[in-house]
Amino acid sequence: MTSNPVPRILVLNGPNLGRLGSREPEVYGSGNLEDLEALLVAFVPETTQIDLRQTNEEAELIGWLHEAVDTATPVVLNPAAFTHYSYGLRDAAALVTKAGLPLIEVHISNPHTREEFRHDSVISGVATGVIAGFGFGSYRLAVDHILHG
Ligand code: DQA
Repeated sequence: MTSNPVPRILVLNGPNLGRLGSREPEVYGSGNLEDLEALLVAFVPETTQIDLRQTNEEAELIGWLHEAVDTATPVVLNPAAFTHYSYGLRDAAALVTKAGLPLIEVHISNPHTREEFRHDSVISGVATGVIAGFGFGSYRLAVDHILHG
């Protein structure tokens, strides 16, 4: 099987994920975003750039999804708490998948085993797929899919 080269993958992280490492380690583990980036960089071929970003701002995240459309870049998205209520982010995610680009929703924890409000995602309905509950492995599985199908 041959796959097309993927020059860049946007790995976008929503609110409070900048605190990974110290934020509820019993839920999210002890690794921080630098550890996540290192894990993904080690996983992809040298020809693929991992462009990992985090923001606490909904508007910034939406802007990055517009950028993904404009530059035809596949997306791994952990929308964090925006998962559960941001219709603006959902509409931006739909722009990505309607442009024919993969957008994979990921979660470090399995939200379905947690509080009721985490059981609903307004993003999943427009995502290419959803991977949750595997720690940083959720991101690795998403990147694997983007690279190899
Ligand atoms: C999360 C799950 C969300 O419910 C939560 O708000 C987060 C992180 C996860 O990766 O498990 O911030 O998206």
